[in-house]
Amino acid sequence: MTTEIEAAAELERLAGLIAHHNARYHGEDAPEISDADYDALVRRNAVLEAQFPQLVRADSPSRSVGAAPGGHLTKVAHARPMLSLDNAFADEDVGEFVERIRRFLKLGEDVAVALTAEPKIDGLSCSLRYENRVLVQAATRGDGQVGEDVTANVMTIADREIPKTLPPNAPALFEVRGEIYMDRGDFEALNRQQEASGGKIFANPRNAAAGSLRQKDPAVTAARPLRFFPHGWGETSDLPADSQTGVIAAIIGWGFQDTGLFVTVDSVAATIAHYRRIEAERADLPFDIDGVVYKVDRLDWQARLGFVAKAPRWAIAHKFPAERAQTTLERIDIQVGRTGKLTPVARLKPVTVGGVVVANATLHNADEIERLGVRPGDRVVIQRAGDVIPQIVENLTRDAAREPWNFPHRCPECDSEAVREEGEVDIRCTGGLICPAQRVERLRHFVSRNAMDIEGLGGTSVESFFGDGLIHSPADIYALDADRLLGREGWAEISSTKLIEAIDRSRTQPLDRFLFALGIRHVGQVTARDLARRYVSLDALRARIEEAIARRTTLIPAVGETEEKFALRVAKEMAAIIETPGVGPEVADALINFFAEPHNIAVIEALRANGVAPADVIHKTRASRVSGKTVVFTGSLEAFSRDEAKAQAEALGAKVAGSVSAKTDLVVAGPGAGSKLKKAQDLGIETMDEAGWLAIVADAG
Ligand code: IVH
Repeated sequence: MTTEIEAAAELERLAGLIAHHNARYHGEDAPEISDADYDALVRRNAVLEAQFPQLVRADSPSRSVGAAPGGHLTKVAHARPMLSLDNAFADEDVGEFVERIRRFLKLGEDVAVALTAEPKIDGLSCSLRYENRVLVQAATRGDGQVGEDVTANVMTIADREIPKTLPPNAPALFEVRGEIYMDRGDFEALNRQQEASGGKIFANPRNAAAGSLRQKDPAVTAARPLRFFPHGWGETSDLPADSQTGVIAAIIGWGFQDTGLFVTVDSVAATIAHYRRIEAERADLPFDIDGVVYKVDRLDWQARLGFVAKAPRWAIAHKFPAERAQTTLERIDIQVGRTGKLTPVARLKPVTVGGVVVANATLHNADEIERLGVRPGDRVVIQRAGDVIPQIVENLTRDAAREPWNFPHRCPECDSEAVREEGEVDIRCTGGLICPAQRVERLRHFVSRNAMDIEGLGGTSVESFFGDGLIHSPADIYALDADRLLGREGWAEISSTKLIEAIDRSRTQPLDRFLFALGIRHVGQVTARDLARRYVSLDALRARIEEAIARRTTLIPAVGETEEKFALRVAKEMAAIIETPGVGPEVADALINFFAEPHNIAVIEALRANGVAPADVIHKTRASRVSGKTVVFTGSLEAFSRDEAKAQAEALGAKVAGSVSAKTDLVVAGPGAGSKLKKAQDLGIETMDEAGWLAIVADAG
């Protein structure tokens, strides 16, 4: 424990040190320490000031306006992922949500499922980490795994919104999670002020809150009236209650704000009633909300339910209907995506919908244009829901005598033929690698935030580098050097060096990001993660895919087998070889097609030659005696559902198979188990009942 005298001395030293580094960084463009080390100093200063408020110095770095932390915001890995929410739009969706929970937990009809209901705040989520009851770190959600460090900025938010210390009854380690937002009144006042001073005008309170928080200079954040509502937690050493209601009440008791709109109910009807009440009050609330969030109240049930992909099974957001407005469709443009997909985009006479000016809307595809019968000049109804791209929902002048608008048959970017494959809704440019639009889009995707995450290389830079022949393919990015960037418009010494550093850092992004970045069809972030967890390294994955490719060349159609049936049989066999949960025939087929294409292999080899070495992905599972083993569940399980059993097994690093074979290590048999149990016994495979399985789960580390 630091004494007051030691703290005073350290604060004095920190004030001098931070001022020195500020000067080196800002005044002389010559930082001596890394951003992370700099942030650590600022954080240490904040911790001491929170512990000894009486010692805050007049020249404290936390007070000095203009003392910016080093450069861009640093990244922080979340101790527990920050999840998002699945959406419900209709009342029935809420009933189905509760039914799914009942099925998963195997609850009887008569067991009540208590739910909490609270407003969904339209802000940005933030995780506040308290160690020994002192706020030590604040981070944005980012991609859910890694966020941005906004500690210095959050330190400037009022204590009544974000207390810098927690009372003695709070656990030693606790991450409070919630929403940072701006009040409507404050937002309007801010925009008036911005207008007067010629500053940026924000589209809505959410953007204003985000722009205010994600500042390099905390002095800017300090001048913005940000607020916070807690709605959950991350890593904790202890929980103050065993229900959502109890923990949230405790958090509010520690000094956080209460929306006043949180209830705990035990029927679907009651959640809907609360939804209607909040909907009725929505316009009069001082803050923006876009729905009502329901959560299972019991924490032991939350733990059993776990999450799928990025959202918990135990929570759902019941969204409010989207806002609508009328305007005129001026023009239809065609955008070419990274897979060659041609997307029609409606250019609209700008109109305000729910406080945001909308000038573009997606028209999805040719079918949608035909369904709506839209042509330039038509009056249309547009709708905007939350952050989703606005859509045209109705054409008010469909009957007017005007020529229909025809979808082009050629790519507007490379003039290659545009075709619609059988059974597909999309029309695609067939230009592939010769189509500049597809190439640029692929590069943009490669460097994007959820892929290789090369900070400082935005879409516009990619376009201009590509246009000037500086980069043709992903590997070229890794051959860039600061000298080549220097002298280009907008690239000064600092930004060039920073970009080269960001490129360098991205060389060792984890395998899942690398796979996602390659832009393989059907391989999204979730599938990329599944593959990375299963194979750990790029070499292991490639070796397995090569086996699959070799196997594929040996397969031939059986007599009388249709082309379609044969293709499906091949794809299924490929999926069996890839052996990854979540990778079915369609994905396996796409994956293998990608790796069978020599120019794709050339891209990967060129990346490697330029020093790209994706980091292995080590998936943390709980150690148990079934880790790495293959388990089969059979019979009618009574204590838990098959889905829960599967989730438990995967959390222990075990694989779940549907049928018993020599590769099976364990068969868990519920009542009424038949042939699978018998086969296991014949093969001498270990078998047990549900209670035996539950004991393994309970024993796991
Ligand atoms: S719970 C584990 N509750 O909505 C579930 N989220 O669309 C995590 N949000 O990223 C979220 N109000 O930033 C929860 N009352 C509320 C919320 C809320 C707003 C945000 C949150 C989340 C996003 C998901």
